[in-house]
Amino acid sequence: MTTPTLTLTGVQPTGELHLGNYAGAIGPLARLAAQPHRETYVFVADLHALNSRPDPDQLRDRTRKMVAALMACGLDHDRVHLYRQSRVPAIAQVSALLANVTSKGTLNRAHAYKALVAANGDAGRDPDHGVNMGVFTYPVLMAADILAMGADEVPVGADQAQHVEIAVEVARAFARAYRPGALRAPRAVVAQNGGVLPGLDGRKMSKSYANTIPLLAAPEEQAKLIRRVVTDSRRPQDPKDPETCTLVALLDMFADPAAAQEVRARYRGGGIGYGEVKAVLADQLRATLAPMRDRYDALLADHARLDAALQAGERHANRRADETLRLMSAAMGL
Ligand code: ADP
Ligand code: TRP
Repeated sequence: MTTPTLTLTGVQPTGELHLGNYAGAIGPLARLAAQPHRETYVFVADLHALNSRPDPDQLRDRTRKMVAALMACGLDHDRVHLYRQSRVPAIAQVSALLANVTSKGTLNRAHAYKALVAANGDAGRDPDHGVNMGVFTYPVLMAADILAMGADEVPVGADQAQHVEIAVEVARAFARAYRPGALRAPRAVVAQNGGVLPGLDGRKMSKSYANTIPLLAAPEEQAKLIRRVVTDSRRPQDPKDPETCTLVALLDMFADPAAAQEVRARYRGGGIGYGEVKAVLADQLRATLAPMRDRYDALLADHARLDAALQAGERHANRRADETLRLMSAAMGL
C-alpha cells in the first residue's frame, strides 16, 4: 500500500468567507478531501493573525466562526483534520528551529514584507516603520505549518505561492545542514486563473476590493448586494452576451444548472432584464446556500459538536507535529 497524499492548507481568521473563496478554494478542497487515498489537514492560522495585533476577543470569535464556516462548507471532521494552529504547540517550536536554517535574505525578498517596506519608502518613512517580527518571519511560521505535518500538496491562491516556495527552500536547507529526507518538500497547487469569480464591480471578488458577497450572510443581505452588481445599460428586450456578465458567472457557479441555462438562452434571444436576473440569482443563491447556512448556525449554537471536531483534529495534528519536532530536535543535537 502506498501512503496517502497529504494535502494541507491554512486559512486566516480574518473576516467572513465570500462566494469567491468558496468557488476558488473551499469548495474544490472539500471535493478533493472526499477522494479516496488522501489525508487532508485544514487549520485556522490564528498565530499568523497575531501580526496585525487583532483585538483578543475578536480573534477568538473569528477563529471559532471560521472553524464553523469551514465545517459547514464540507470540511468536516469525517473528511479532514481540522485544527487551530495555536493548539498545536510543536508548530511554533518547529518554526523556532527552522529559523536557524532560513537566511534573512530569503525573508527580505518575501512579497508581503517587501510591499510594506516599499510603501514606507513611498511615504518617506523609515523602511521598518510598523513592521513587527511576526510580519517579517511570517514565511518561517508558514514553512513550519507545512513541514511539521509533512504535506505533499499545499493548495493556495497565487499570492501565497512564494511562501510555499520558501517552505521548499527551508526544507532543502535543513536537509543540507542536518539530515536529508527528514522533512518532506511540499508542492504548491495554485488555483487556476480561469476559475476567478467576479465581484459586485466585475473585478475579481476580493476583500481588498470591497466587492464581495459574504457566503453565509442572511439571504436578504445577499439579495441587497446582488442588486448592486454592476451591469451595462442594455434594456430587457436587447440581446446580451452571457459570457461577459457577472450575474451569469455567479449563476453558473451557484444556481441549479437548468436555471442558469435558461437565463443564458434568454440573454442571447433578448427578453430578460438585469432586474429579473438579479431576482433569479438571489433566489437561487438562497436555495443553494440554505443547507450550508443551517449547518453554520447549528454549529455556532452547539459548542459541543464544534469542540469535538477540533479535539479530534488537534489530537491528530499534534501527533504528527510532535513526531517531526522529535526528528528535527534529534538531528540538530537537542
Ligand atoms: P481575498 O482576495 O478576498 O483576500 P484570499 O486571498 O484570502 O481572498 O483568498 C483565499 C482563497 O480564496 C485563495 O485560495 C484564493 O485563490 C481564493 N479566492 C479568493 N477570491 C477568489 C475569487 N474571486 N475567485 C476564485 N477564487 C478566489
Ligand atoms: N498565509 C496564508 C494566507 O494568508 C494562510 C496560511 C498560513 C497557509 N499557513 C499556511 C496556507 C500553510 C497554506 C499552508 O492565506
